[in-house]
Amino acid sequence: MITIKIDGRSVEAKEGTTVLENARALKIDIPTLCYHKDLSPFGACRLCTVEVKANGKWGLAASCQTVVSEGMEIRTDSEAVRESRRQAAALLYYRYPRTEAVREAARRCGVPVAEAETDGKDCILCGLCVRTCREVVGVSALRFIDRGLGRDVEEPRIEFLPDACIGCGSCAFVCPTGYVGMESLDGKRVIWNKVFKMAACNVCGRYFAPVEQLERISAMTGVPVSALMTCVSCR
Ligand code: SF4
Ligand code: FES
Repeated sequence: MITIKIDGRSVEAKEGTTVLENARALKIDIPTLCYHKDLSPFGACRLCTVEVKANGKWGLAASCQTVVSEGMEIRTDSEAVRESRRQAAALLYYRYPRTEAVREAARRCGVPVAEAETDGKDCILCGLCVRTCREVVGVSALRFIDRGLGRDVEEPRIEFLPDACIGCGSCAFVCPTGYVGMESLDGKRVIWNKVFKMAACNVCGRYFAPVEQLERISAMTGVPVSALMTCVSCR
């Protein structure tokens, strides 16, 4: 364990943990849009900015990406922090004014938010879907085409690889804006415009998972698909 100081309070922190994790453990409220505790940090939204003292100087840093070190001092609610978050939120709001997750973040950061005439479900390039698919599901059916300089920030630049997708829906679940739509009807699921056949539970008859997902689990575990045909409720 190491000792850090957050908002003037000395606390013990585990080595390798981030400023955000330690702040949240202390119930300090820090806004985030591209962070998920089970995924690698990405640093896209900059809403989680804090001030960190390094080499005797205070500087701004994304708390989700900043790993704590012995003696580190952190400010989570200074004037500089509030202004930086306000600017990050204002930029997002400028780009995606109709998307509720962005509007909510803007309100939290003190950006004036006008009435929206219509709802938006924009992709804000937070990368949650890409990281979930790669790091949790393990299939990498989504990827950024180009995150480098010169990418077109006005257009979503996520590529869907239909042959890799198993239709699990994790990307739709984790997407904060609703951009990733998923529809299920009559034994079919449609996601990223790919149609999946759903398997029906052999006890209750309810459609519960795409056949391709069960086939993947079978290939990974060696359990035959026929032994996976029972939904969670009937197991
Ligand atoms: S589709 Fe959704 S989860 Fe994926 S990058 Fe866009 S906003 Fe984030
Ligand atoms: S939550 Fe840290 S940059 Fe988005």
